[in-house]
Amino acid sequence: MKPYDQTARTEEEIRAAVDALMAQMTLEEKIGQLVQSPGPATSEIGMDIDSDPLEDLIRQGRIGSTIFLGEVFQTVKDIEKLQRIAVEESRLHIPLLFCQDIIHGYQTIFPIPLAWSCSFDLPAIEKAAHIAAAEASCAGLHVAFSPMVDVAHDPRWGRVAEGAGEDPYLASLVGQAIIRGFQGKNLFDRDSVMACVKHFLGYAAAEGGRDYNTAEFSETALRNTYLPPFKAAVEAGCASLMTSFNLVNGVPSVANRPLCHDLLRQELGFDGLIISDYNAVAELLNHGAAEDEADAARRSLLATLDVEMATDFYNRHLPGLIREGKVDAALVDDAVRRVLTFKYRTGLMEDPYRYLRPEELRERVLCKEHLAHSRKLAQESIVLLKNENHTLPLSREKKVALVGPTADSLDMGGCWQFTSFPERMVTIRQGLEDAGFAVNYEKGCDIHQMIEGGMENACAAVYESDVCVLCLGEESLMNGESASRQSIALPQAQLDLLEAVAACEKPVILLLTNGRPLLLGEVLPQADAVLETWFLGHEAGHAICDVLLGDCEPTGRLTMSFPAAQGQIPVYYNHMNTGRPHPRGVPYIRFESNYMDGPNEPLLPFGYGLSYTTFSYGEITLSQDTLTKEGSLTASVCVTNTGDRTGTTLCQLYLRDVAASIARPVQELKGFESVTLAPGESRRVSFVIGEPMLRFYNAEKQYVSEPGRFEVMIGMDSEEALSRSRSFRLV
Ligand code: NOJ
Repeated sequence: MKPYDQTARTEEEIRAAVDALMAQMTLEEKIGQLVQSPGPATSEIGMDIDSDPLEDLIRQGRIGSTIFLGEVFQTVKDIEKLQRIAVEESRLHIPLLFCQDIIHGYQTIFPIPLAWSCSFDLPAIEKAAHIAAAEASCAGLHVAFSPMVDVAHDPRWGRVAEGAGEDPYLASLVGQAIIRGFQGKNLFDRDSVMACVKHFLGYAAAEGGRDYNTAEFSETALRNTYLPPFKAAVEAGCASLMTSFNLVNGVPSVANRPLCHDLLRQELGFDGLIISDYNAVAELLNHGAAEDEADAARRSLLATLDVEMATDFYNRHLPGLIREGKVDAALVDDAVRRVLTFKYRTGLMEDPYRYLRPEELRERVLCKEHLAHSRKLAQESIVLLKNENHTLPLSREKKVALVGPTADSLDMGGCWQFTSFPERMVTIRQGLEDAGFAVNYEKGCDIHQMIEGGMENACAAVYESDVCVLCLGEESLMNGESASRQSIALPQAQLDLLEAVAACEKPVILLLTNGRPLLLGEVLPQADAVLETWFLGHEAGHAICDVLLGDCEPTGRLTMSFPAAQGQIPVYYNHMNTGRPHPRGVPYIRFESNYMDGPNEPLLPFGYGLSYTTFSYGEITLSQDTLTKEGSLTASVCVTNTGDRTGTTLCQLYLRDVAASIARPVQELKGFESVTLAPGESRRVSFVIGEPMLRFYNAEKQYVSEPGRFEVMIGMDSEEALSRSRSFRLV
């Protein structure tokens, strides 16, 4: 018999069961629920679980959850072993929660999040997250540290790969889709995991794009740019949230009471778990934000941090602080109540082993259905950046030279994936061979350096062929955490290879494998066609060939601007106007807001992506030219496929608040619709605009819409949409 009610299911029953259990817990046992230890083989940083063996701590009830990052079937064994110790050998038999970074797939790997955001296909992203949950939950995992919804403007920051790019609206929708996919309808469902939205807050605003760095922004930027995706996540019922490593306006998030307690808990009503990032409580000392370990624990708890990841300052210092009256025991009780509530909601208190299903796991990982979805989402994530002279789609009749360091590379999964099946990634070479090509392959160079004779051999292969498919890019390790780059150019060896191959005067099709916007100003002119293929996961090679050969259309659109020069960073579409705006495409003018030595505009704007066919958009029609607070109006355009292939265009709606009490961005994405049309076919695409879409946080600290003039823009990308606008008044 367990000393707690195992059958509580409704919220009322759970509340009573948690209270009854807490009444039996010692202070140390309560605090133990708030500690998240690293699991076996997790990281060198953080708690020393060798000198203080994890098993002993679990027996003593001093651990509430564990973060895992291991080989899948070993994970199952380790989880089962640790769960047994918690449930059978600790005094109160409370099960552990097991957590992992499940970012773009668990064992079956999907495109990196920056890539899948380019699909704008929310149901497909939701399904990918659901598949990840269905695999991870069988392995005994309960919490996925995802989605990352940090709005990012700086491609030097390696973690842009993990998010949805530079737009708060899209980041909100993608984040909600992932949360729905992970959590399903009910956390009690055995195929669901708890989502953990991160990193609260402003992590992407790190100075200089240097990871973990200081973020400074105004209250209005916080509310209008960085907060919306977190607000959306709370509204979607996200079960947990991770604080960011950085200072936010001087205070590290993990101990930032105004941010976590006042804004998140009180104002947004978040009652899920707040989890620190890895070792972040200890890092308060380095930040100069805590005097010693005890002070770090106290400040974090005061901010309402529930779970301390990877360190055990709570264990070591909170009991003393509470007994000395320096910390209110009620704060611990609140946090413990939240942790135990989720242990009930996930069904763990009823059956601690319900998620451990190794047989189902074996059937699910990399199964046909999961791989098929990975391939579909990978196809949709690819963005066609250039296509001169109809170079693409590639004809099956052509003799292909396949060149480049990423052409035959298994490194297709991208950052933050821990699949135990890396050898199952489909390379580009394999993709082409599976499609029936007898490719003439030459590596040419490594990612970072030349290889002896590489260039000569590559050129020889190109001369013998009709076309060169050149594969360049980054390696996975150049993206993700702690992977900031000063230069976002392709490494020099690859630029040299491109130049050599381009000089062979055969058509060059460039396939880019990378996790951030790259500097392509001097790259694009040297290729006839360019596909941005990101890191696409297990089915990369197949999906790339599907698009390359025209078996499916390129439908992805960029969700982060690609700078024209490194010195433009940050460059993003939804910026403010200056008092001296500089017209697009006009050379330097003194005393205007422009560079002396180059354009203001990015090379490739947000929303950009070509199709194999062409489209034309007609003028915008508005159903009326005034909008009332309760009413709505419809903006529509007629879209026509003007080419000779069936194709899909992503019709994008942008709005601008022309004059307001605080300046508003020159454009903000407010809607999008994917439209597939046969050659010559036209369709009217409509968007309904209502007053809530016009709200923002103003200088009076209110979310309002302000009467006045608004511009409506609809187009194929953010820049193209500027050429087509109509206005209405909010009255
Ligand atoms: C550090 C990263 O910032 C965070 O995103 C991740 O979830 C944790 N480590 C756990 O691995």
